[in-house]
Amino acid sequence: MKFARVGILGSGDVGKALARGFISLGHEVKIGSRSPEKLTDFVKSAGEQATSGTFEEAAAFGDIIVLATLGTGAQEAINLAGKANFNGKVVIDATNPLEFSTGAPRLSVGHTDSLGEQVQRWLPDARVVKAFNTVGNALMVNPDLPGGPPDMFLCGNDDDAKRLVSQVCRHFGWGVIDLGGIEASRYLEPMCMTWVLHGMKSGGWSHAFKMLSK
Ligand SMILES: NC(=O)c1ccc[n+]([C@@H]2O[C@H](COP(=O)([O-])OP(=O)(O)OC[C@H]3O[C@@H](n4cnc5c(N)ncnc54)[C@H](OP(=O)(O)O)[C@@H]3O)[C@@H](O)[C@H]2O)c1
Repeated sequence: MKFARVGILGSGDVGKALARGFISLGHEVKIGSRSPEKLTDFVKSAGEQATSGTFEEAAAFGDIIVLATLGTGAQEAINLAGKANFNGKVVIDATNPLEFSTGAPRLSVGHTDSLGEQVQRWLPDARVVKAFNTVGNALMVNPDLPGGPPDMFLCGNDDDAKRLVSQVCRHFGWGVIDLGGIEASRYLEPMCMTWVLHGMKSGGWSHAFKMLSK
């Protein structure tokens, strides 16, 4: 693939799962946090291709960037990372605009806007692709489900960027469904809630979406 270095903004389970996935494909990864010292153990366990840093260092490092912060922290993380560090780059937006003020998770934006579109507006010179937001972190890389490869639904305005992210998804063991421009995030972000509600109801978290057709 035509990139070597991946900058990951997010020290949570998603950032770590995708970091491990990119490392398994041979890429160098810098994983970012407001407190990079919390990633010391992770970096040790992830091997030589992994380093940690601030959001700014991770964004500057990556040929491509993964945004994997809490949805409500995404804008702050982007500002801390420095918008110029995203210019021209592919940004994989794995976030969901979840808020928990009433206890159970719910979307803080939807129908006429989405976090994916907001991220693209905050980063007009980046090529944002919404992906990986419709499945739990444990299945993001090599999901290996008995029903065969699940489908990663993605969207974004730049076809080359989507081709590259599709390649990544296929290497990670996924089929790919491209839903069009970044405004399709309005439908991908609620899909996260479908995934979560099924998990809460069934008590299991090993499920993923697949489109069937003939
Ligand atoms: N967990 C999943 O399985 C899953 C699956 C699909 C999509 N997602 C989405 O992926 C994203 C990451 O999820 P996660 O579970 O890995 O971790 P998370 O707990 O949602 O987010 C952790 C990251 O968010 C950063 N953050 C939190 N508040 C911030 C703020 N005000 N300003 C800047 N950064 C802030 C943290 O920074 P520090 O490192 O400085 O603490 C940390 O790096 C979320 O948007 C989530 O909805 C999650």
